[in-house]
Amino acid sequence: MRDNFKSSFGVLVAMAGSAIGLGNLWRFPYLMGTNGGAAFIIIYLVLVFLLCLPIMMSEFVVGRRSQVNAVKAFKVLSPKGHWGLVGVLGVLASVALISFYCVVGGWTIDYLVHAVSFTLPEQGSSEGFFAAAVSTPGRTILYTYIFLALTSLVLLAGIKDGIERYTKVMMPLLFLTIIIIAIRSVTLPGAGAGLEFLYKPDFSKVTGNTFLNALGQAFFSLSIGCATILTYGSYVKKQEKIVKLSSLTAISDTFFAILAGLAIMPAVFAFGISPSEGPGLLFVVLPDIFDQIAAGGVIAILFFFVLFIAAITSSISLLEVSVTYLIEACRMKRRMAVLLSSAVCLVLCTLCALSGSVLSDVHILGKTFFDFFDMISANLLMPLCGLFIVIFVGWKLGRKDFVDELSNGGTLPNKRLYNAIFYLVRYVAPLVIAVIMIFGWL
Ligand code: PHE
Repeated sequence: MRDNFKSSFGVLVAMAGSAIGLGNLWRFPYLMGTNGGAAFIIIYLVLVFLLCLPIMMSEFVVGRRSQVNAVKAFKVLSPKGHWGLVGVLGVLASVALISFYCVVGGWTIDYLVHAVSFTLPEQGSSEGFFAAAVSTPGRTILYTYIFLALTSLVLLAGIKDGIERYTKVMMPLLFLTIIIIAIRSVTLPGAGAGLEFLYKPDFSKVTGNTFLNALGQAFFSLSIGCATILTYGSYVKKQEKIVKLSSLTAISDTFFAILAGLAIMPAVFAFGISPSEGPGLLFVVLPDIFDQIAAGGVIAILFFFVLFIAAITSSISLLEVSVTYLIEACRMKRRMAVLLSSAVCLVLCTLCALSGSVLSDVHILGKTFFDFFDMISANLLMPLCGLFIVIFVGWKLGRKDFVDELSNGGTLPNKRLYNAIFYLVRYVAPLVIAVIMIFGWL
């Protein structure tokens, strides 16, 4: 018998766990910082709920309707043609993504270990500390491997006893902790400027690029376009409600991103730092701030703990894509499938982990392995896979099957809403993704 999620809450925390990750804590605040604060949030919200949520539901429908892995799902739903390739694209995207995600996950463990032993850098030495964390080969590799090993351990136990069981504990903890940090941050003297930045939209900073950034972020943050939602969906029972679960996932992901903004921006402003500091905001600027505030040591522990939990619940969902595929396509036992997919990831992660040191001179298309995997997953494979999924659902699977799956075989009301979602999937989504990809790559 195929494993299944036991409860609706279990599905929700697993999906929210996948969505909430480094994207919310690391990417969202700095993108917001460089794209007009609240103005960026407004554009992002529109894109998430009008465009990306229907895409998420499409992935969910393909998985739940077929109840098999990403590649076979398309073949089951449409035996003729080569739609299985869309699933292959999804599996490739998930592998590319996890290769560099584990390295950043490794940094979070590195920082957590230092936070717990109160050996995070003092003010002024954070930059050197971060540079060392990234460019000391043994250190980066060690933490990357630990992160990958922990991810694999959860997966060994399966869907119900592994993913569901652990994410159910981790996700509530995650919310609780980020709320504590947000409260600490907004009560710092001088935090008001940060709050104003978050709530007062500055539309003068909005350009065409803002839309690109917002869409890329929405895709990345909702975990769509790399078969994770499809794979999780294939383990979801027929009586669960797809529209409700997907909407709640998108709402909790967005709520968490805003909480992350509240935790980070007021502190950044209180110390007179520019919000457009960029990707270093998290690993360089924050340790500096923690060093200067009362109870900063404890807040640092909580913060890097949050970062680690957010990252691992996402990497779990990424690795499960290829695990499910191997179990079914190669008739492997779960243990073997986890070992094999982890072994492949181990090799790729090693290349990414060494990008900051011994392999820093090795370039593919002018980029280090780390940047290359980042680029091909987020800018190419994910949007491409997302594009094909909506084309498949909108033009091949068709309205009848889509609405049938969303309405659980006609037992749920709201036919009008389901039809409207279908038309978004069929016409709006492919067009917008195509336009954004073309502009993004030009
Ligand atoms: N959504 C995750 C984040 O925000 C990243 C992710 C993308 C995870 C795709 C799974 C699949 O960090």
